[in-house]
Amino acid sequence: MPLIRFPLLKEASRHFRFFHDAVSDLDHLEQYQQRMHTYEKKEVEHLREKEDLSRQLEQQLDEVNKAHGVVSGLNADLEEKNRSLNDAINRLSALNQISRMLGLEHDRREIYRMLVALPRELMGAEIGHLLLYDSDKDNLVMEYSQGLRENSSSKRRVEVGNGMAGWVAKSRKPLLVKDFSAQDIFSTTSSIGYRRKTSISAPIMIKDDLIGVLTLINKDDGQPFVEEECTLLATMTSEAAMALHNVLLLEKVQKSYFSMVQSLITAVEAKDVYTRGHSERVTQYSLLIAEQMNFTLDQMEVIQQAGALHDIGKITVELAILNKPAGLTTDEYRKIQIHPDVGYRILQPIDFNETVKLAVLQHHERPDGKGYPNGYLSNQILMEARILAAADAFDAMTTKRPYRDPLSVEAAMEEMENCSGTQFDPEVVAVLRKIVDAMSSSGAMASMYA
Ligand SMILES: [Fe+2]
Repeated sequence: MPLIRFPLLKEASRHFRFFHDAVSDLDHLEQYQQRMHTYEKKEVEHLREKEDLSRQLEQQLDEVNKAHGVVSGLNADLEEKNRSLNDAINRLSALNQISRMLGLEHDRREIYRMLVALPRELMGAEIGHLLLYDSDKDNLVMEYSQGLRENSSSKRRVEVGNGMAGWVAKSRKPLLVKDFSAQDIFSTTSSIGYRRKTSISAPIMIKDDLIGVLTLINKDDGQPFVEEECTLLATMTSEAAMALHNVLLLEKVQKSYFSMVQSLITAVEAKDVYTRGHSERVTQYSLLIAEQMNFTLDQMEVIQQAGALHDIGKITVELAILNKPAGLTTDEYRKIQIHPDVGYRILQPIDFNETVKLAVLQHHERPDGKGYPNGYLSNQILMEARILAAADAFDAMTTKRPYRDPLSVEAAMEEMENCSGTQFDPEVVAVLRKIVDAMSSSGAMASMYA
């Protein structure tokens, strides 16, 4: 019995092990499947995360690109703003400069020069010119120009209403012509022959009164003028208007004072038959000498004024002394000798060119130091005064005086040459000799004393 039971037990045991193993395998499979499921889930999540990250990166890249575009735009904008700011600073500085310099300057020609040169340099214009309004003739006259051929800068006149400057004078408004070839109102060729491509003009006004017109023509870089430059020119002319008005007013006062003094001299000379026309002839001789010595226009103007005024100090000297035939007392001689200083003091309060006053003061000084009132030596005496001294003495010698008859032109000239280097400047005497010879041979000398 037990022998029969044993195989059955063994078989049962084997089945049990098989079952047990199967169950165990099933557990393993289930665990495996769970692990696989977990792994797959993680893989999907990881993939999603990668996709999200990629999307985020793309978005960020996109944003970075956009930001780069914005920054580039800002940079260009900033550069443009910087350029505009620099331009504005330059223009403000030029305006400030023009106001300051014109405010300090009292010389008419220097004001004209600055008024044309500053905007011309600032805006790079080839040509600049200033026309002033002549209210008596109701037209404009060219006073100053830069960039034109030398022989073109003469004082030509422009009718109000004619051409660009005339248009500005009539309308009293700034004018911008960007491209002359694209319009048919103004000619591309100016009245003095240069070719116009682009231009800006502005009136110079004090309230409603026109003073002049400032114009810039053609740009150095070949570009057209723009509205902003036209506005700037108008601002500059408005800044300059008062300075220009003042200097013109001052000049009127000076002219009126000058003509008053001239009338006074004429009246004094008229009473004294011996010196009649003396100042006028001294001026003429002096101008001829100065011209031969290549004096500038400004220096010629000084000569003209100083020549007319050189003996103004004699108005304080009694006629009896001036006309005394001979034998002046020391006191009388001293009274005559102070006339250059008196003349200087008469002119001192007036805003004349200082050289005019100094030439009047020094017109009796001598190169050897024996002149008066200061006994200056040659190098201390202005050339204008040396010219006046020679012209003054030559005219005195060739006209009748209370104490002697007139010397002949040749005798007077020989006397001048004898005193060359001591009483008179040698260069001036040599120039006077050439003039006198030329005038004598042409017959012009006789007309000086007609
Ligand atoms: Fe004199």
